[in-house]
Amino acid sequence: MSDIAYLDHAAASGPGRAYKQDLLSLLELRPGLSLLDAGCGPGTDLPEMASQVGPDGRITGLDADPVMTAEARRRCANLPQVDLFEGDLHALPFGRGIFDRARTDRVLQHVADPAQALAELRRVLKPGGLLVMAEPDWDTLAIDSADLELSRAYTRYLTSSVVRNAVIGRQLPRLAAQAGFQIRACSPRVALFTDFTAAEQILRVRHVSARAINDEAIGAEAAQRWLQGLADGPYLASFTFYLVAVQAPLG
Ligand SMILES: C[S@@+](CC[C@H](N)C(=O)[O-])C[C@H]1O[C@@H](n2cnc3c(N)ncnc32)[C@H](O)[C@@H]1O
Repeated sequence: MSDIAYLDHAAASGPGRAYKQDLLSLLELRPGLSLLDAGCGPGTDLPEMASQVGPDGRITGLDADPVMTAEARRRCANLPQVDLFEGDLHALPFGRGIFDRARTDRVLQHVADPAQALAELRRVLKPGGLLVMAEPDWDTLAIDSADLELSRAYTRYLTSSVVRNAVIGRQLPRLAAQAGFQIRACSPRVALFTDFTAAEQILRVRHVSARAINDEAIGAEAAQRWLQGLADGPYLASFTFYLVAVQAPLG
């Protein structure tokens, strides 16, 4: 599955649709506002946000990956209020204080320096501007198995060797406060999966397990038994992610 297909699938899933709707509500968009979608991916949410700010508003999507920005540009070709930029969240190609709103949706978990990214988001927001973030906390990944130690070893491998900022979710309020933001709202969401095949589309446990075996983080035979047990079911996996809304000081 390509990265774009993966993101589309995640957005269309039950948990994906629910938290994206909540993220959108927290942004408090209205006609005429400007918004930066930092790490916009293939532009999944740009059309919906464009319709909320209307023809007098501005939606700016930015992503470091040219394949993503190309796809976002294609999806927004008929939306004149949307601009797309290829760029890095650590050094945004925008002036100070020009956006009313900004958002990151599962982006800060990947960046090299979340504190620098937050400083940049603060710089480009107007005084009083809102930033809304949705980020996971992969330490909370709980996969039920008779082999509990293997489930734990898997989560440890994911957090230490796969996702760069694996526990960014819980860190958002502290990092945002350090960047000078005021915290407006922070709430957890739990993504629950009870079907192995559906969960694989999002969690990709088979794929990550193959890496873990290769890195000798888990044993091949035990991992095969563990995976077979997950596939046979009954299946339960869950993790927590956080929705955090913060505000740039008024002046
Ligand atoms: C998990 S995807 C989420 C995409 C989109 N926000 C969504 O909800 O579908 C993370 C995105 O962040 C982008 N990204 C990662 N590091 C970045 C950086 N330093 N600057 C800009 N974009 C970045 C990736 O290219 C990718 O498109």
